[in-house]
Amino acid sequence: MNLNPALAPTDQPTDQPAPQPAPPASAFAETVTMVRHYTDRLFMFRMTRPPSFRFRSGEFVMIGLPGEKPVWRAYSIASPAWDEEIEFFSIKVPDGPLTALLQKIQPGDTVWMKKKPTGTLVIDALLPGRRLYMFSTGTGVAPFASLIREPETYEKFEQVILTHTCRDVAELKYGEEIVAAAKADELVGEEATAKLIHLPAATREPYVRSQRITTMIETGALFAELGVAPLSPHTDRAMICGSIEMTRDIKALCEAAGMVEGANSAPGHFVVERAFVG
Ligand code: A2P
Repeated sequence: MNLNPALAPTDQPTDQPAPQPAPPASAFAETVTMVRHYTDRLFMFRMTRPPSFRFRSGEFVMIGLPGEKPVWRAYSIASPAWDEEIEFFSIKVPDGPLTALLQKIQPGDTVWMKKKPTGTLVIDALLPGRRLYMFSTGTGVAPFASLIREPETYEKFEQVILTHTCRDVAELKYGEEIVAAAKADELVGEEATAKLIHLPAATREPYVRSQRITTMIETGALFAELGVAPLSPHTDRAMICGSIEMTRDIKALCEAAGMVEGANSAPGHFVVERAFVG
């Protein structure tokens, strides 16, 4: 009932949110279904998946928030290609053009996602091999969250080693969860339990492992812990995702071991992608 005679029926306050701008033709508008904050620097969210959207596990896509001039940023898709929803793992940068706002999203909010996924951290960009190393730091674990839940990963490799190095122990939580999810998964659980080895490390807090992965490769501590020979192009393949410095340094170590970088058009022994920041 309208208790205010000054309000004509059409002026009545309403609970409806203001209409949102339509996304550009190149993008989908999707609805956030879940948000989880891990630390003051990290959070994950899930959103609906457009039925027509296809991608390969390990690829990234541009995402942005509705607006006149959206800021688009590349995000690795953290969910596998078969999942009904799309998952992302994100850093929070206080003044970041996108993440300052993105970190405030809630279930029900809209996120725009460009229609074309791309990326080099895909199984197709690697030559066949026995052992697959996934080297990640920080949010660089996101594409591997997808790939360790992808059946093809276990069809192609006998052993899959996920290294995840963060500053603090709390930042390792998402990686622990996705590894546990992969091992408990109906589709890949059995293979993941048999083949997936998770090596988390925290460099700025006491932890079971507290060295940078580059140090562990250089000193051989990584291979001693695994009980395997050092990196070799004959047996090993690697995927690398982290900061500019981290990807540069591990790439150099792979090349020093005689490994050659691959791409979609020319598969090789290792592939590299920089994790998103900003
Ligand atoms: P460190 O604590 O020694 O700097 P960031 O949050 O800065 O991206 O760092 C994430 C993790 O990556 C940290 O554990 C950090 O170690 C590590 N890291 C940073 N730079 C490199 C690098 N060039 N090579 C290997 N690890 C690195």
